[in-house]
Formats: sequence, structure tokens, C-alpha cells
Amino acid sequence: MTRGSQEPELETAIGSVRLPNPVMTASGTVGHGAELARYLDYSELGAVVVKSLASYEWPGNPPPRVHPVSAGMINSVGLQGPGLLRWLDDELPELAESGARVVVSIWGRSLDDYAAAADQLATAMSPAMEAVIAAEINVSCPNLEDRGRMFSHSAAMTEAALAATATCGLPRWAKLSATGDLVEIAAAAIEGGAEALTLINTLLGMVIDTEARKPLLGGGGGGVSGRAMGPVAVRAVYDVHAALPDVPIIGVGGIATGADAVEMLMAGARAVQVGTATFADPRAPAKVLRELARWCAARRVSRLDELIGAAHEQDDA
Ligand SMILES: Cc1cc2nc3c(=O)[nH]c(=O)nc-3n(C[C@H](O)[C@H](O)[C@H](O)COP(=O)(O)O)c2cc1C
Repeated sequence: MTRGSQEPELETAIGSVRLPNPVMTASGTVGHGAELARYLDYSELGAVVVKSLASYEWPGNPPPRVHPVSAGMINSVGLQGPGLLRWLDDELPELAESGARVVVSIWGRSLDDYAAAADQLATAMSPAMEAVIAAEINVSCPNLEDRGRMFSHSAAMTEAALAATATCGLPRWAKLSATGDLVEIAAAAIEGGAEALTLINTLLGMVIDTEARKPLLGGGGGGVSGRAMGPVAVRAVYDVHAALPDVPIIGVGGIATGADAVEMLMAGARAVQVGTATFADPRAPAKVLRELARWCAARRVSRLDELIGAAHEQDDA
């Protein structure tokens, strides 16, 4: 967007990472590679966040894996993926060629898993790694060394998982879940070395098949996402921004329109991610970006900074 025209300046900074605009895809909703590149010009977006990858291939959960719920969906895909090494060889080159700024998302079931994934990134020889601008550390995963409790439900384990990825050689964003202790867990992620926080992952949920008298999804429970979780995500971003105003936040949850993105920015996010909306319309992230620019232009908002955290200004008055 050129200055001097009516177009707003949408550039944003997430810690050390500068993005031309604040709209990204959300992990797990556009696959691992360039699957959606024929619908969506990846180079137009702020960044493309790939589905979380482990240091090994992982089969995911049994079907069914997704189901619609009122105003959203529930999934238990179970982090199926080819593993980082195969991704680096098979999927990253095409993604880099699409012009995407790539954020690689990593996950694990133990601290050693996180460390192994970080080492694989640090030692990756692929020239396509130049397209990778950051690593998102997904800690919404069961910790096998803590009786399956999610890393993201414990401040100590969140900090330890972040610390375990310190060698990856990329700026790190911590992807967290909404919990009652979110502010404490957010501070622990920063203590562990995260430059920014991605808030929030799906909400724990379940659907029962009443005829079969058992959980409907093959994995039992799952994660609820989409419009139903919008206000929960906005609240999470608002509360963490109020407590940690200098920490860059990426807001995710229920965003389907430019106005939704504005709401998230006003809560304190410096960027947003679009997830479930992309299943209904693969061009949703580009639409959100277009509508955000239009929203700003119509209100003579010339820079994104005018919106970031704006909903807190009354608190300061
Ligand atoms: C089918 C599906 C798969 C997902 N996979 C991942 C994943 O691999 N890693 C991750 O950090 N988040 C994953 N998420 C969570 C999204 O990135 C996002 O945090 C969440 O869906 C809320 O955003 P939304 O309401 O825009 O979908 C997944 C979500 C869905 C719906």
C-alpha cells in the first residue's frame, strides 16, 4: 500500500518480524504446503502459518475427525503430519516459491520432542528455509511426561517447552490455549524465550452421538473453533495485553470479516490469523485483509497503530 494515497498503511511488527500486513492463515487450516495457493495469493498475506509438525511423522487420530457445531466446528485431527524433515524436502520449496512468508509451527509430546524439532530447523540445509520468518511453538499438546496434561495448561511446562526450542534459530511465537491462568502462562512463555504470543488455540469440546451413545469424533473429545469462540479469543487477547502491554500478540479465533480483525486489533493484537473461515471459503484470509483495508479507509485510519489496543484507552483515562 503506498503512502500518500487513501490506502491505509497496514505494515505491522511482531517483535523482530516485520510483516506487510497483519493477516495470516491459522495453523492447521491451510495444510502443510501450497495446497490453497491456487485460490489464495499467499504472497499477499502477512504470513502463512503451516499445520503443526513434529520431528517425526505422526498419523493423527481415527475418523471422524471434524464435525460442524453451532457457529463453528469441532476437530480431533490429532496433529497428523509428515514430520519436519519430509516437510522441508517435499512441501517447503513449493510454499517458498509461492512467495509466502512462512511460519513453521512445531509441536511435541515431550520436551525432548520440542528440542528435536528445534534442532531439525536449526540444521536444515534447504535454501527454501529463507522463506521461513518465524517458528510458532504449539504447546496445546498432551505432555506424555505429565500424565497427558497439556503443556499449555501449565506455566512451568510452557516455559520449559519454549526453552527447549531456543536452538531453532528463528524468532519464536508461543501458541497458547485459553485457561484461567492465561496471563501467568503467557508470562512464562515469554520467560522461556517467546518473542510473541499467538492467542488462542481451539477450546476443549465434545459432541455426543446420541444414537450410538458415545462421543462422535474418533478421538473422543476435540477442539472447538470458528465464530462461536470469537468473544473468548478477544477476551484472552484483551486480558493478556492489559497485563503485558509490551508483548506482541497475534489474535486468532472466530475471525471471518475485516470487522472481526479490527475487534482483535483493538483488544491489543498486532496481527490476526484466520482459521475455520477458510474451510467455508478458501479465500477468507484475503477477504479479511481487503475488508480491513476498507474499514480503515472509510474511517480515515491511516496506520494500524491507531487501532492496536484502542479498546484499552478508556481504562487509562
Ligand atoms: C481442523 C483444524 C486443525 C487445526 N490444527 C492446528 C495445528 O496443527 N496447530 C495449531 O497450533 N492449531 C491448530 N488449529 C487451531 C487454529 O490454528 C486456531 O487456533 C483455531 O482454530 C481458532 O481459530 P479459528 O476460529 O479462526 O479457526 C486447528 C484448527 C482446526 C479447525
